Amino acid sequence: MQNIIEALERRREQARLGGGQVRIDAQHKKGKLTARERLEVLLDPGSFEEYDMFVTHRAVDFGMDKTVIPGDGVVTGWGTINGRMTYVFSQDFTVFGGSLSETHAKKICKIMELAVQNGAPIIGLNDSGGARIQEGVAALGGYADVFLRNVLASGAVPQISVIMGPTAGGAVYSPAMTDFIYMVKDTSFMYVTGPDVVKTVTSEIVTHEELGGASTHTKISGVADASFDNDIDTLLEVRRLFDFLPLSAQVKPPHVQPYDSIERQDIALDTLIPDSAQKPYDMREVIIRLADEGDFLELQKDHAGNILTGFVRLDGDTVGVVANQPLVLAGCLDINSSKKAARFIRFCDCFGIPILTLVDVPGFLPGVAQEYGGIIKHGAKLLFAYAEATVPKVTVITRKAYGGAYDVMASKHIRADVNYAWPSAEIAVMGAKGATEILYRAELKDKDKIAKRTADYEARFANPFVAAERGFIDDVILPHTTRRRVARAFATLKNKQQSMPAKKHDNIPL
Ligand code: HXC
Repeated sequence: MQNIIEALERRREQARLGGGQVRIDAQHKKGKLTARERLEVLLDPGSFEEYDMFVTHRAVDFGMDKTVIPGDGVVTGWGTINGRMTYVFSQDFTVFGGSLSETHAKKICKIMELAVQNGAPIIGLNDSGGARIQEGVAALGGYADVFLRNVLASGAVPQISVIMGPTAGGAVYSPAMTDFIYMVKDTSFMYVTGPDVVKTVTSEIVTHEELGGASTHTKISGVADASFDNDIDTLLEVRRLFDFLPLSAQVKPPHVQPYDSIERQDIALDTLIPDSAQKPYDMREVIIRLADEGDFLELQKDHAGNILTGFVRLDGDTVGVVANQPLVLAGCLDINSSKKAARFIRFCDCFGIPILTLVDVPGFLPGVAQEYGGIIKHGAKLLFAYAEATVPKVTVITRKAYGGAYDVMASKHIRADVNYAWPSAEIAVMGAKGATEILYRAELKDKDKIAKRTADYEARFANPFVAAERGFIDDVILPHTTRRRVARAFATLKNKQQSMPAKKHDNIPL
């Protein structure tokens, strides 16, 4: 028996070595951890249970029958993060460049199916040269098998992709269909076609980093939700994100007992709004001041900065926050901010996470570029996402809520549950100046007259009371009481039940 046990241990040792020490050293030289080291950082110590360690590929072409490595380039299994279960796969770049073979795909599919069946998230650590070139269509089929399971898992369990090396070609579509993408700065990239193909087809000369690095995807494309300096920081941030999420759509996110009382008042909020409506202020500060312990996990921080999205806890429970940011484009809604917020809202709705909306929006960004880019359809995404969401929705208007953007930003009319306004709120079709210039065009030359008209309009509409008189606003609240009022509003909505008309699925404008 001792011999058999030793033989098993030898086989395990061989599998753990992956592509061998030389390639492990090369991985380290690039500043990257190995697939197994990454799982050690991601998961609670000693919690990882590996499956399919002895699986090998079945390819014979191109001399592949002579190069067989146990595990076939991906480490799969499950473990825990702060005691809660998650399924994981971690691609091993030291084995055929982490490329995906038929059997490599089968291993990933197995844990994806287990995750959906057992109600636990899927975290994929991607570091791969793409489809295993020696296998041809068998590898392509493997990718499609993974894609299908991404779609089936979508909305059932949270899916998180971490890009920790190359992710090229069609391979990018698996992360693209997951809920969150985190990237490692400088060592990861994602693109559909690489720099060489781009140069041939469009004559553009770009580096891997410029085309698909973390900076590109967190700032320009908005494909990635966040990026961090190295493997360790990135994986620790994934743990932090995981702690905000439920294990599946069937259960609630974890309750984290706060140190922070919901009775905490914040006097600074009473003076946060500048006297001039043209002056910006930092809405991020409002979020941080409202959150339990000031903890705000912001997503897509560097993309579409005119809207803020992320998670906080209020009285210990996860809340998704969507907030206009007056510091960027005066908080206008545009194509990118609409898409960013809509997808976030849909995530929250899938997974039973209540949504807090903080509104200071002067309207939709005007311009030819916006119209040609399809702001009509993209703005509609945000409207649609809010209207269809049946999770608890609480809205606070801090200052401007003008025009169509008032309707869109979780107004009462599209089923927000509790709508508050600060006394500084201005809820109107547009700002007073613009309104009087349209209504009294004939008097435009008479500056005094127009100033008086503007003042009249302001007095009539630049306040929250016209909306409050109609019940569109449930109460006008003192800014320093916002944390308490919002937390208590969510508490009343704990058992909210709202259903949609029977249908197969809706048809959100894409
Ligand atoms: C088989 C691969 C491979 C692949 C890399 N390797 N990619 N083996 N299939 N797709 C192997 C290399 O031969 C090498 O083996 C080892 O992995 C490390 O690769 P290097 O090139 O030495 O590493 P590096 O310089 O870091 O470059 C990494 C890379 C490059 C940028 C990923 O390897 C590369 O461009 N690979 C091809 C990428 C690609 O075009 N894939 C197909 C995409 S299309 P040795 O033995 O020398 O160490 C696709 C379709 C998906 O994926 C379709 C879904 C619908």
